[in-house]
Amino acid sequence: MVKTKAESAEIAAFFEQWAIYEKVVSLGYMAHEEVFQALLDAVKDRPAGGRFLELGCGDAGMAAQLLKHCPHDVYHGADITGPVLGIAEKNLENCGAEVTLHHEHLLDFVRNADHSYEVIYAGYAVHHLSHEEKRDFFQHARKRLADGGCLLMTDVVLRPGKQREESIALYLDWIHRNWTEMTEREMALIDTHISECDYPEEIATLLSMAADAGFQAGETRWSDASGFHHLISFQR
Ligand SMILES: C[S@@+](CC[C@H](N)C(=O)[O-])C[C@H]1O[C@@H](n2cnc3c(N)ncnc32)[C@H](O)[C@@H]1O
Repeated sequence: MVKTKAESAEIAAFFEQWAIYEKVVSLGYMAHEEVFQALLDAVKDRPAGGRFLELGCGDAGMAAQLLKHCPHDVYHGADITGPVLGIAEKNLENCGAEVTLHHEHLLDFVRNADHSYEVIYAGYAVHHLSHEEKRDFFQHARKRLADGGCLLMTDVVLRPGKQREESIALYLDWIHRNWTEMTEREMALIDTHISECDYPEEIATLLSMAADAGFQAGETRWSDASGFHHLISFQR
């Protein structure tokens, strides 16, 4: 089922309340520091230079730090939430790469881009795509990678063997028990967003979609204690 424009607009509207997401990130609820270390580990031995594409870049806070450790010539970011790209622009000011930001659906961007990339990164964004869109995402991401290039993806996944509704209920239960600093109102918005806009897959499904697109076997490089958040790398 492909998402309608209204559903995509709903996702964008939520992330305009970026402050809530910033609070989640700053309290470590989605393990951004651990993700950063795992990401750094995945790219640190790659040759310097080349092009870095971030899909669903948000404020590009993590990429801005990463590029300081692993210099690239070019950074392209794409996100459907226009206002957050202004924050991304500021964060990327001294990242050392030539920066271009695109207010665009990530699937359209990766389908139509006329460049190849050494690294493509998508952090907590692909689970917003429908099942079919995710299939297309892997197909087009592989086509956009340069020889030897790598797709890195941090995302929310389904509990193995559980349907979406059941797994989302378990995820929300885990969030309610662990994200204790969120206010009632913030939690209500998070509940609605996750219930209506999140379409995670099992890790096995993501690995199989990537294999169908021609990627080498995916490697899980980081998982958190909840089992809901993972970083997977896929070599072209
Ligand atoms: C949970 S935030 C993650 C932000 C950042 N990548 C990170 O790891 O912290 C999800 C981001 O993906 C963006 N997003 C969701 N669906 C998208 C789509 N179809 N195309 C482009 N961006 C999308 C949202 O606007 C938001 O900025």
